[in-house]
Amino acid sequence: MPVKLKTVSVDDNEVNLMLVETMSKNLDVDITSFSNPLAALKHIESSGADLVFVDYMMPEMHGVDFIKRVRAFCPDVPIIMITAVADDNALKLSAIEAGATEFLNKPLNPAEFRARVANMASLRKAQLMLKDRALLLEDEVDKAVRIIRDREHEALSVLGRAAEYKDPETGAHISRVAHYSRLITEKLGESEESRDLIFYAAPLHDIGKIGIPDSILTKNGPLTEEEFEIMKTHTIKGCEMLKDARSHYLKAGSVIALSHHERFDGTGYPYGLKGADIPLFGRIVALADVFDAVMSKRPYKEPWPMEKALELIYEQRGLHFDPDIADVFLKNTDEVRKIHRDYSD
Ligand SMILES: [Fe+2]
Ligand SMILES: [Fe+2]
Repeated sequence: MPVKLKTVSVDDNEVNLMLVETMSKNLDVDITSFSNPLAALKHIESSGADLVFVDYMMPEMHGVDFIKRVRAFCPDVPIIMITAVADDNALKLSAIEAGATEFLNKPLNPAEFRARVANMASLRKAQLMLKDRALLLEDEVDKAVRIIRDREHEALSVLGRAAEYKDPETGAHISRVAHYSRLITEKLGESEESRDLIFYAAPLHDIGKIGIPDSILTKNGPLTEEEFEIMKTHTIKGCEMLKDARSHYLKAGSVIALSHHERFDGTGYPYGLKGADIPLFGRIVALADVFDAVMSKRPYKEPWPMEKALELIYEQRGLHFDPDIADVFLKNTDEVRKIHRDYSD
């Protein structure tokens, strides 16, 4: 069964309203009639309309003004103006300028009425179909974008896991660093986009370790000075691996890989950058990484208790760590504890 078009008919003359209703029988329209244009406007505003018939001479409001008001919230609905003066071109012109779609002359001729209304009804149905199609396409595009984003996130986590494959640091460390980094970014008041970016990019901080010889990476015991110099290059190697990528996540990963061992006071590596010269994401991941490393068990050390790790963050504010980032972290220890609990090895 065809869907009936919601149609509004406005005329101060009840006889004319009835005439329009009678002539519309057997057309796919469902007419609501109003003798008061203000009541009709209210109805259209709240319930919408697919077709509108309007008289031009009404005591409360001129038909042209009525059309202007309807157009303000219904830019595309077909409006048919019923005029009594067949050859008043000035009126028709102003009605067209206001947004009238079609005219019918009184006295109404049933055959002409049906033909014109059928035309307007087809126009409206085509508009509605296009709208439906646009919505459907929008939905499809949204779905496709979500799938692509999920795949990118999946690829990033595989890359993060590959980076830790030979590293004594564990997968749980990687995901805690991601969570701590996102928490800090959020509490610093950074955008939703930045939080998402750092969450997926932080796991790449040590990806450059892929390029460090196993003899150094998995050495049991302290590194010689020369070995440590080689170890330090994991920052530059990681940056090199990621820096030409087009993905925002990989670009952020390259920045983090390069700068996560810089220290706020300028004593870090590889470049000894100071303060705000160190990229924000690098300063954030530096704290998250160190905090989680001291809280984790390593072959050469037991995990620190939380209080001792938090004390280290406090002592190192302004030295190793950006003081603002340290403060934000220390202010949100409940959430820090929760991350530590929820993502344990
Ligand atoms: Fe590192
Ligand atoms: Fe790490």
